Amino acid sequence: MRFPPSWLDELRARADIVQVIGQYVQLKKNGRKHWGLCPFHGEKTASFSVDQEQQLYYCFGCKAGGSVIQFVMDYERLEFQDAVKHLADQLHMPLPQMEEDPDYQRRRSQRDRLLEANKEAARFFHQTLFTPQGQAALDYLKRRGLTDGVIRKFGLGAAPNGWDALTKHMQDKGYTVEELKLVGLTVIKEAEPATEDKPARPRRAFDMFRNRAIFPIIDQYGNVLAFGGRALGDVQPKYLNTSDTPVFNKRLGVYAANLLRKERHLARVVLVEGYMDVVSLTQFGVSGVCATLGTALTPEQAKLLKRFAPAVYLAYDGDSAGQHAILRGLDILEAEGVPARVLDFPDGLDPDEFIRRDGKEAFDHLPALTPESYRMRRLRSEHDLSTQEGRTEYAKACAEILRKLDPVDRENHLQALMVHTGFTREVLMEQIGIQAASTPQSSPSGPRQERFNPRKNSPAATEEERDEEVLISLFSTGRLPKDIAEEQDFRDPLLKSLFIDLRGGASPASLVEMQSDEAVRARVSKLLLSPMSEDTDQLITMARDCLDRNRSKRDRAEYNDLIAQLSDPTLSAAEKLQRMERAKVLSVRLTSNK
Ligand code: UTP
Ligand code: MN
Repeated sequence: MRFPPSWLDELRARADIVQVIGQYVQLKKNGRKHWGLCPFHGEKTASFSVDQEQQLYYCFGCKAGGSVIQFVMDYERLEFQDAVKHLADQLHMPLPQMEEDPDYQRRRSQRDRLLEANKEAARFFHQTLFTPQGQAALDYLKRRGLTDGVIRKFGLGAAPNGWDALTKHMQDKGYTVEELKLVGLTVIKEAEPATEDKPARPRRAFDMFRNRAIFPIIDQYGNVLAFGGRALGDVQPKYLNTSDTPVFNKRLGVYAANLLRKERHLARVVLVEGYMDVVSLTQFGVSGVCATLGTALTPEQAKLLKRFAPAVYLAYDGDSAGQHAILRGLDILEAEGVPARVLDFPDGLDPDEFIRRDGKEAFDHLPALTPESYRMRRLRSEHDLSTQEGRTEYAKACAEILRKLDPVDRENHLQALMVHTGFTREVLMEQIGIQAASTPQSSPSGPRQERFNPRKNSPAATEEERDEEVLISLFSTGRLPKDIAEEQDFRDPLLKSLFIDLRGGASPASLVEMQSDEAVRARVSKLLLSPMSEDTDQLITMARDCLDRNRSKRDRAEYNDLIAQLSDPTLSAAEKLQRMERAKVLSVRLTSNK
């Protein structure tokens, strides 16, 4: 559902940013801002600032920044909707519409009840593990090398070897078999009438999980969503999982999200394939480990992981299925803009087997391959480099990969590619589609390629851009006359749109929130938060200075351009005259502005 903008405005107005952030970070007022230690990166001196007037926060150290909603999203690791609900809840603000919608109410109460049921089942499984009923499962987990500590940390459990121990227990707790079926804990066999050779059978209910070790799947809010059950021997399937239910969608979550959430300042998430890999790596002291839930990585999961850490390391099994899944995983992560690395396990081992065999040291020293290194390595194993044909095909395939890289990264791989294939640098560069550095940039044939501009979202590249930025900072205080500047004063499209929105009355906080790209958001919150003088006259003078500087720079450029055009012999007399008129206007303006 979407929240009406007016309701969101009210929420922002009621949720004072200093009060909200003050619950998490100790803030001290200094000048116009409140300062504290940044909760998003480790630091000893306060570079985290909160601006009450603008209702924005910004960290000068790690450049995190945004509105109060952004803060709750980042700190509590919530989606926008959930962060808004969290804030509304704290402020005792009723959510719009939802209150009156009976269907919503019904679904929510059903959901609450099913989650309660799952939690009770998890408790039952875990407690059973330490009773005679759970002895076989406990023995199994111990045989796999798990300690009591890690068994408790993950809340592992035992499904007893009977037919309906759990179902009976849950019925005693007041849950109906229909509810238990809905949440995937109980299987119902309908009644069968008598036939010639079989007597009638009543309707029966029995447990979904029997004689298995249980891995509860818990989300980042602590809800038990589903279960994975490991067979204790060679029974098929090896893992039995809850299918999708009203409270569980295996494509959306990851295993161990509840533990991830508690780990602050993670440099990377380690994504593995199996429950057992997560538990085992964690036991050996690896932080930030989680797993997909028996499916290939989905875009939704990639988005989720992005909220926990700035990078994802794929640590899939060393078998061919795992290796194939890595290529797909890299594509998904790339599409979601998540920086990725690959940990490649030797000898076809999975992470659990590797860390048991070689230890944590060896795990920490595994090279973290960049996506292109990994892709090229895969290509190398697929081609026979001892033949000319193999080397040619290999070089062509690598060129496709290298085309997408920055020049510096590309250079590292080019060297190796030259060695492996015997092609010269010029030939390879041509195959990649890049002109050698010595040839001129634009060729008359073919369109010029759009070049990647790494400074696009970084601090101002030119003095002109810097002046535009300062202008936006000044304008965002709301203390300049609205007509002081015009749209044409901004060349940078982002700054131009900020100007238009601010002039139209948008609050700085809402503008920051609108930015979906993190780098852009950081840039915008920095602009709208720059320290400013209290003195309105001084603000206006500064703005005029910026404007004058940029306007006369542009006038001068236009003037020079016109003069140059005048010597063009193909220009008609009328066109010449028109340019001279315009040049005269500019020249007057330029001299009077000095
Ligand atoms: P693996 O077969 O690699 O299992 O499946 P594993 O993690 O190494 O398990 P152990 O070490 O033999 O106990 C990886 C993941 O694929 C899903 C599970 O999520 C499992 O953790 N899977 C596998 C199933 O859902 N069902 C299966 O029958 C097998
Ligand atoms: Mn395994």
